[in-house]
Amino acid sequence: MCRKRDLGRLDVMYDYDSASESLTRRSLRSRAARDVWRYEELLPVRARFAVRLGEGGTPLIRARRLGEKVGIKNLYLKDETRNPSASFKDRAMAVGIAKAVEMGKKDVATASSGNAAASLAAYSAAAGIRCHAFVPPDAAVGKIAQLLLYGASITRCEQVKEGEDATAQEMLAAVDKHGYYPCPSFGPFNPYQVEGPKTMAYELYEQDEWGGVDAILVPTGSGCLLTGIWKGLRDFKELGLIRSYPRIIAVQPSGNQALVKAIQEGVGMDRLVPEAYPESVAGGLLDPYPWDGDAAMEGVKTTGGTGVTVGDGEILRGVKELAAQEGIFAEPSGAAGLAGLEKLRSEGKVDNGERVVVLVTGSGLKEPDRAIEMTKGHGSKGGKKRQAPPR
Ligand SMILES: Cc1ncc(COP(=O)(O)O)c(C=O)c1O
Repeated sequence: MCRKRDLGRLDVMYDYDSASESLTRRSLRSRAARDVWRYEELLPVRARFAVRLGEGGTPLIRARRLGEKVGIKNLYLKDETRNPSASFKDRAMAVGIAKAVEMGKKDVATASSGNAAASLAAYSAAAGIRCHAFVPPDAAVGKIAQLLLYGASITRCEQVKEGEDATAQEMLAAVDKHGYYPCPSFGPFNPYQVEGPKTMAYELYEQDEWGGVDAILVPTGSGCLLTGIWKGLRDFKELGLIRSYPRIIAVQPSGNQALVKAIQEGVGMDRLVPEAYPESVAGGLLDPYPWDGDAAMEGVKTTGGTGVTVGDGEILRGVKELAAQEGIFAEPSGAAGLAGLEKLRSEGKVDNGERVVVLVTGSGLKEPDRAIEMTKGHGSKGGKKRQAPPR
């Protein structure tokens, strides 16, 4: 953790000259690893410390039906629901736990709305490390079930109040008191995990056979994922593997839009106002303060991107469309990117001819109650209740 404890972020630097000798478009073709460790030269810890559960290597799916509906000819979905614990956080936590193993840590702690905690718990279990998770009172049932079964110790904290996130505060107190290794997905408390999600950007380019992507839509809470995408693009440009950047587009719910608002108003982190009482169906996007906002803003700005907010109705429509048009079951946070695209498309801010990638970041199986609620009245024929068989 940064010794000044001023929420400054540390950034991992790489020797690009040396990495470019081994990491080329050609050498990538002959690499067997399909997980995040495929890009070992650009990770802060060696693969031999990793607990490998199959993190990363997710499919990039051409979404023809959805593309037609949205009016984007070349629409692609990066399906991160396929990760081992069913969200993109596995990329971050695989790196976080590998670092903890390298450093000989026995206890790790996280503050999370649920996905990062579930992921850390999975990797901790496999590494034989104790996991301490600080989560909000309304964390989704599937995420709590994962934490319980992976054997994490769970502390349910208070809801965000006046912009203060109790999960982060309690995690930091436990780190101070017990010496746990802080391993949340966002940056200021640990610089390594953000190096995991950046592999998603590498994969997009490889999977698209290096064809130009024009825009990437990123569901955003703490800004760690967006920062990772930005870092991944920068890495590949430094290595000469890509020539230009796609526009990075941050998508936040309208009930928690501090980062997007700052992007739209062109102000820096010093003038960003955290949301006092964040609220949305997208539980993964409710960090009142975007911990990685500075790097995220840099990524959006440098790539000519933008920010967009979406309402709960738009997000839930995105969940339905992903399932009904493309067979992908996403949780609301995971579908926010699609909702953002539909909004920008309707405003004419994305063109039909652009190649667009939407990141689908977490699985709907985490919140089955929500899916059932959303589809009430659908699917059951005649609306009759099932009767008990005659005795
Ligand atoms: C499914 C899902 N998507 C997106 C995000 C946002 O990621 P970040 O906090 O890195 O911005 C989260 C965060 O928890 C999430 O769970």
